[in-house]
Amino acid sequence: MSSRPCLYVVLAAGKGTRMKSSLPKVLHKIAGQSMLAHILATASQSGGKVAVVVAPDGEAVAKEAIRVVPDAQIFEQAAQRGTADAVLAARAALEAHDDHDVVVLFGDTPLVRREVIDELRRGLDGGAGIVVLGFHPKDPTGYGRLLLGGDGTLTAIREDRDAGDEVRKIGLCNSGVMAFRVPNLVDLLSGIGTANAKGEYYLTDAVAVARERGVRATAIVCEEDDVLGINTREQLAEAEAIWQSRTRSRFMQNGVTMIAPETVWLSFDTQIAADVSIEPNVIFGVGVTVGEGAQILGFCHVEHSTIGKGARLGPFARLRPGARIGENVHIGNFVEVKNTTLGEGAKANHLSYLGDGIVGARANIGAGTIFCNYDGFNKERTEVGEGAFVGSNTSLVAPVKIGEGAYIGSGSVITKNVSPGALALERSAQEERPGWAEKFRIMMTRRKAQRAK
Ligand code: UD1
Ligand code: CA
Repeated sequence: MSSRPCLYVVLAAGKGTRMKSSLPKVLHKIAGQSMLAHILATASQSGGKVAVVVAPDGEAVAKEAIRVVPDAQIFEQAAQRGTADAVLAARAALEAHDDHDVVVLFGDTPLVRREVIDELRRGLDGGAGIVVLGFHPKDPTGYGRLLLGGDGTLTAIREDRDAGDEVRKIGLCNSGVMAFRVPNLVDLLSGIGTANAKGEYYLTDAVAVARERGVRATAIVCEEDDVLGINTREQLAEAEAIWQSRTRSRFMQNGVTMIAPETVWLSFDTQIAADVSIEPNVIFGVGVTVGEGAQILGFCHVEHSTIGKGARLGPFARLRPGARIGENVHIGNFVEVKNTTLGEGAKANHLSYLGDGIVGARANIGAGTIFCNYDGFNKERTEVGEGAFVGSNTSLVAPVKIGEGAYIGSGSVITKNVSPGALALERSAQEERPGWAEKFRIMMTRRKAQRAK
């Protein structure tokens, strides 16, 4: 592909009032990260410079851009005077990188895939000065239409509200994404006027201006899914669904089994190795890595956690931030793990809370074990040594350490450290009264009969 360097200009000045939100539109999330971050990550994936155009009150948007692309240049568009004016807000970057290809992307069109951008740039290699990304929407209403000449060149883009009935019949629409290879692009864009229904500087008019100057424009066509523009919460959910479906497919192609993929929710940074199997209704929040061959049974909720090779999780397990599940560990139903590391082969199979601790390799955590990590003021740590056996219904009151191979009797409330290999038992002695039950029944039967009289 093109050996020329590339400058990506990402327009993110839009208010997005139809989101009915105090959050700027491009900061709404898809798969756990902002739509702006999605498009910036795609843009910067294969190198290149990034310029982001924000509104005058766009600090939060600028901050997000810098978080994703630390050397992104931020430009402010003083007022919303149209897409061409927005690109010209990045004038300094355009001038400084006049020998670069320029690709214009929209912050609210986050699902454009890398392959599509590459294809757009390949269009520039064919000699066109402008390549526009077109698509065939189910409903073209509202979109700019691409006007093609007999030889397939793009002669102009006509905005919906400036179009007559004939042009409105055209199904090929402008996605908004455009690539330029024009010397002195600033000069070309400055030739765009505002003689249109909105009285705005339309970037789409660059095609007609270029034509007057003898610069050829072409179009390539992509799937509608790539260029879904988000203006409403419904469209946000639609974009989420598209992203999820694409990402599930990618994982399955890479060797992950999903029985009911449409019920598995992934985040932008989820990492799942080959031969992992995932049952229905599993949610991967942000920051999760799953090792080879792990099994995630139904209804698990996992975030900021790692799951080791061959581990088995769930059904109904919850991993909160900092859960580090070692190789071949079993975490069973209704077990919650937070900020706790479990060593290889450890087991916590039922109804437990493991918070702020370390569980050694092969240790067994019995049903109903609670790490009492919080006294209302501070969080304290619990350590369970390798091979230790914690009986059911045990409270381990942190800070506390259970030595290697130690046993804890069921029902104990452990407040002191336990030595390796010892048995710790904290419960009152059991007494037995022979024949008591029969006497009790006779007495109660008699009392009840007396009351009934
Ligand atoms: C634009 C295209 C249209 C295309 C459609 C695809 C133009 C003139 N029209 O129309 O051909 O079919 O997108 O969705 O380009 N923006 C700014 N500053 C501005 C104006 C817009 O940053 O002054 C940003 C918006 O935040 C948005 C993007 O540019 O992300 C597109 O602007 P918008 O007004 O939504 O253009 P459309 O009318 O949808
Ligand atoms: Ca739009």
